[in-house]
Amino acid sequence: MGAGAVGSTFAYTLALRGLADEIVLLDANRDLAKGQALDMVHGQAFFPSIQIRDGGPSDYADAALIVITAGAKQQPGESRLGLVQRNAVIIQSCMDQILAQNSPAVVLIVSNPVDILTYVAHKRSGWPRGRVIGSGTVLDSARFRHLLSKRCDVDVHNVHAHIMGEHGDSEFAAWSITNLAGMPIEQYCRTCGKCGDKAASLQSIVEEVRHSAYHIIDYKGATWFAVALALTEIAATILRNERGVLTVSAVLDGEYGQKGVCLGVPCIMSVRGVEQVLEVELPPDEQRALAKSADTLREIIGSLDLGPS
Ligand SMILES: NC(=O)c1ccc[n+]([C@@H]2O[C@H](COP(=O)([O-])OP(=O)(O)OC[C@H]3O[C@@H](n4cnc5c(N)ncnc54)[C@H](O)[C@@H]3O)[C@@H](O)[C@H]2O)c1
Repeated sequence: MGAGAVGSTFAYTLALRGLADEIVLLDANRDLAKGQALDMVHGQAFFPSIQIRDGGPSDYADAALIVITAGAKQQPGESRLGLVQRNAVIIQSCMDQILAQNSPAVVLIVSNPVDILTYVAHKRSGWPRGRVIGSGTVLDSARFRHLLSKRCDVDVHNVHAHIMGEHGDSEFAAWSITNLAGMPIEQYCRTCGKCGDKAASLQSIVEEVRHSAYHIIDYKGATWFAVALALTEIAATILRNERGVLTVSAVLDGEYGQKGVCLGVPCIMSVRGVEQVLEVELPPDEQRALAKSADTLREIIGSLDLGPS
């Protein structure tokens, strides 16, 4: 749902990977959904066998996965909170359409602010928490792995690293579970010995992750390629029941001492969505960073007018 830059690029990468039997594009702008679907379907000869078309709410009835990238853009003079409020109303109406079709799908929220909108969608649905998830810090973790791989001159696939918390300014690097080639980062750094001031060098990577989206937006107005790939990874682990571990945004129910909020935390994913929130034993500074993210998000959730449920 949402056939703009992110939604259409995701549909395209999903089709290239052959991960679905059928991909249906929906958008409030029906011409856009139709045009995007036609443009893609003309490449059908070069995709794995897959049906691609535009559709309507009745398509939710037998969907396995519904990905929501629908969102309003910030208007001139509009506050961030004003935008959150407008997008919360959009997400609620999307969820109402899905609920009206009795859909069996897992719902993946991508629209920003993703953690807040995931919470809003979960509340609206009344479903088990694992079935409504957000893209969380999966993209941020991919950026972190890429930057660590460049700094350490090691293939990105040998870098295991997670950004946790809010998909936004209060996110943090979970250094305590970062490892390269099976070695905890401190051990790897001692072995490698190439960086001068290690602490400063590593901290600058986290700042770069945090500011990545802003930089890209300065250059081209929005981001869509890497996020589409991150969404395809999430879709793969759900649709193929892979039990992959990804830092999706999940409703916390006491894990990490938090409730009533969604945050990017490592989760085991299956065909049912979040199968298990993995509660990593974080050191005190990382626990504090996670609590700060949770407080920030709860404050915004508390200020929203969500109307009757
Ligand atoms: N979570 C992440 O990591 C991440 C990364 C990048 C972008 N985003 C977010 O994804 C969202 C989409 O970004 P984009 O660049 O594709 O924006 P876009 O403006 O290109 O597309 C948004 C689409 O949503 C549609 N839409 C609006 N209201 C709708 C409704 N009620 N029902 C159906 N469709 C509706 C619009 O017509 C538009 O086509 C934004 O909220 C953006 O901030 C999230």
